[in-house]
Amino acid sequence: MWDHLYRDGRLATMAGTDPYGAIDGGAIAVEGGRLAWVGPESELPGPVETLARTVSDLGGRWITPGLIDCHTHLVYGGNRAAEFELRLKGASYEEIARAGGGIISTVEATRQADEESLFQAALPRLAALMAEGVTTIEIKSGYGLNLEHELKQLRVARQLGTVLPITVKTTFLGAHAVPPDSDAEAYSESVVAMMPEVAASGLADAVDAFCESIAFSPEQTARVFQAARHHRLPVKLHADQLSDLGGAALAARFGALSADHLEYTSEDGVAAMAEAGTVAVLLPGAFYVLRETKLPPIESFRANGVPIALATDSNPGSAPVTSLLLMLSMGCTFFRLTPEEALAGVTRHAAKALGLQDTHGTLEVGKVADLCVWDIETPAELAYRVGYNPLAFALKAGVPISEAHRL
Ligand code: NIG
Ligand code: FE
Repeated sequence: MWDHLYRDGRLATMAGTDPYGAIDGGAIAVEGGRLAWVGPESELPGPVETLARTVSDLGGRWITPGLIDCHTHLVYGGNRAAEFELRLKGASYEEIARAGGGIISTVEATRQADEESLFQAALPRLAALMAEGVTTIEIKSGYGLNLEHELKQLRVARQLGTVLPITVKTTFLGAHAVPPDSDAEAYSESVVAMMPEVAASGLADAVDAFCESIAFSPEQTARVFQAARHHRLPVKLHADQLSDLGGAALAARFGALSADHLEYTSEDGVAAMAEAGTVAVLLPGAFYVLRETKLPPIESFRANGVPIALATDSNPGSAPVTSLLLMLSMGCTFFRLTPEEALAGVTRHAAKALGLQDTHGTLEVGKVADLCVWDIETPAELAYRVGYNPLAFALKAGVPISEAHRL
């Protein structure tokens, strides 16, 4: 007998070749936190009451995989509302960064904060994401910029995943910005020097860097990636966000899980990503906040079969965003993704961007029973509405998540 059977649902499995992998009149069985059966109810192997210890009727509601936010900087001290005001008066993100504001001001606030206050500050942001059905999240460091404070951020990220019913994948982003008392060349070498301890701590699931004129050159990034590779840590890259330094191709050369932002990525970069199987993570919240006008090469990603993911980039500067559903809307309206591509971007492709494609991201037998039940008539509504949350409830590894939004 299965633990639980959900019947009379409309399934957006996000697997197979049909639109949304849809199954009408569908049923899902959960056993030991995994999906034990997925398909049309008419094909169940017997009367429902004989199959599971408990049965729920979904009344025709839609079920999707649990949502995955595959790029965030959720753990940080302070906020940058004052910088927002400066930008409204005409200062650019780059000017503020060069004047010692931007990421560096968050570094100061994060270094001053202890683990408990970082944890408490991140909680409501995470609760907001979870209230919309996020069951897996990636959280980067990158506001410590030295071993002690980078590890502190990573520990807080891990702790969030142990206290709340959410899977947290952590990423070491030591090469996020150049600390005020250093230069890019010297500091990138110290990031390389941090790698053995970061790897030994077990606190990082991947390594990321910011390859940009205001951060690290392709050569410096490559040295950080070599160190990551040496310690068998997969890599990701903030690539081609403000200019084309060939970041996408560099990420692909290292077999990166993902290259992220990508507004300025060239055709060569797209081709290299396709070849390497690197996911394109698009961040429409940062595009919006920075009033970017250059679109990522979407058509080229499609033509080359590069999987496209969407994420919040939740951070205090370029994306103070805590709604993944809003990213679906913006992904469609700004980037002309279809609602189906947008949903794949926060499920199947987001799982791949975290190396979780075997266990998460679709409704398929054997995968972790992370799912969302929605009060919607069509899955396109998830991207269509703006600022509306139709989540009825979500399951994390088969267990209903309740009250997360009230934390
Ligand atoms: O993804 N591009 C660099 N890093 C972040 C911004 C972080 C910040 O401004 O604090 C991003 O946009
Ligand atoms: Fe980012």
